[in-house]
Amino acid sequence: MSDPARFLTSFAQALAAMTLYRDGHPARARTLDAAYQELLDLQADTARPLFTFLGDQVVYGQMPLRELKEWDWGRRLAEAGVQRLEFADQVTRDDFEGFLDEVLARVSLSMIDTTESRQMRRTSIRFGAVGLRGEADHAPGTLPTATISFSLGEEADTLRWLQHEVQTTGTVPLVEAEAVVRSLAVAMHGGRQIVLPLLQLKEFDQYTTTHSLNVAVLSMALAEFLGLAARDVRAFGIAGLLHDVGKTKIPIEVLTKPGKLTDEERALMNEHPAAGARLLLDAEEDLDLAAVVAYEHHIMINGGGYPALAYPRACHHASRLVHVCDVYDALRTRRPYRDAWEFEQVLGYLGERSGLEFDPELVSAFTRMMRQWEPQVAVLPDERTPVPTPAGA
Ligand SMILES: [Fe+2]
Ligand SMILES: [Fe+2]
Repeated sequence: MSDPARFLTSFAQALAAMTLYRDGHPARARTLDAAYQELLDLQADTARPLFTFLGDQVVYGQMPLRELKEWDWGRRLAEAGVQRLEFADQVTRDDFEGFLDEVLARVSLSMIDTTESRQMRRTSIRFGAVGLRGEADHAPGTLPTATISFSLGEEADTLRWLQHEVQTTGTVPLVEAEAVVRSLAVAMHGGRQIVLPLLQLKEFDQYTTTHSLNVAVLSMALAEFLGLAARDVRAFGIAGLLHDVGKTKIPIEVLTKPGKLTDEERALMNEHPAAGARLLLDAEEDLDLAAVVAYEHHIMINGGGYPALAYPRACHHASRLVHVCDVYDALRTRRPYRDAWEFEQVLGYLGERSGLEFDPELVSAFTRMMRQWEPQVAVLPDERTPVPTPAGA
């Protein structure tokens, strides 16, 4: 027996399980199988099941599903731009899983361009906004930054929560870190061309939330520019996102001190790479690349920087890549004691220190990328207030 409400319930359970369990986890596979079976049952009765999500209303074909009035996912899907969902033809289990992945990415990016109707690769599942608002493609020659409107508010909030979680529990929530990176990757490809959504610091940001999101975006962009596979691009994104996670272990007075640090304070500050690596290694074996990058991102190519290596060796490619992106974002940002550097000034600095501090090949690729993509940098205000420091932390 098919039942559209039962399908939607199991659909939501599968989405929830996918946020909790990673690929290959039996619970994830089980809920996905159950939702997929409900869909097959539904399609046995109705060739092209069509759902519409409008505010609190869920409509199946022409029929409102009143039993789902309290169902929160209808509103969340609608806000994420999935206001209409149609299953046409045969949907394979893989299509269905891929579709759920995309829905999850969109739900956490609910501000992204909702006027665009999207289609799945195999066109068996269609979802998008209700009605077309006559919004045509970008006029030739115009830049997508002019038409894209999104904020990274949810990503920033998620990352602040994550940093707070690391600080209070000592654990790194990998699922959320992956969700942020997946969202950033979707935001970067929101238009036909690449967009670099970078946040501009409005308020003092003690745990470098803004900086971490920017380094994640730049690292993914550079990895993509170098032709790395999508999986590696995301792994570099996670590493960029978490490179400064060790700062959650630095006393707040040192982190927020506006003036010059004393030698002792500097020594404390310089412990953040090792502290970050320890946190990430303790958390998950899947975070070993992020742990390496956290440890190595202040080490220069000539062996300078910190921590000092007892036995000199080359750092990982990902560390050298994040290092370039890290310094770029740091210099482009205003600090209490200095203004933000100009674009050309930063590229000049990277060029001067190429071969000493930075990997020359990466500086060259980064420079080419930024010259090519600079017009596609979407500078977004970060207007959220930082998460208050918990009492006793
Ligand atoms: Fe750092
Ligand atoms: Fe950093």
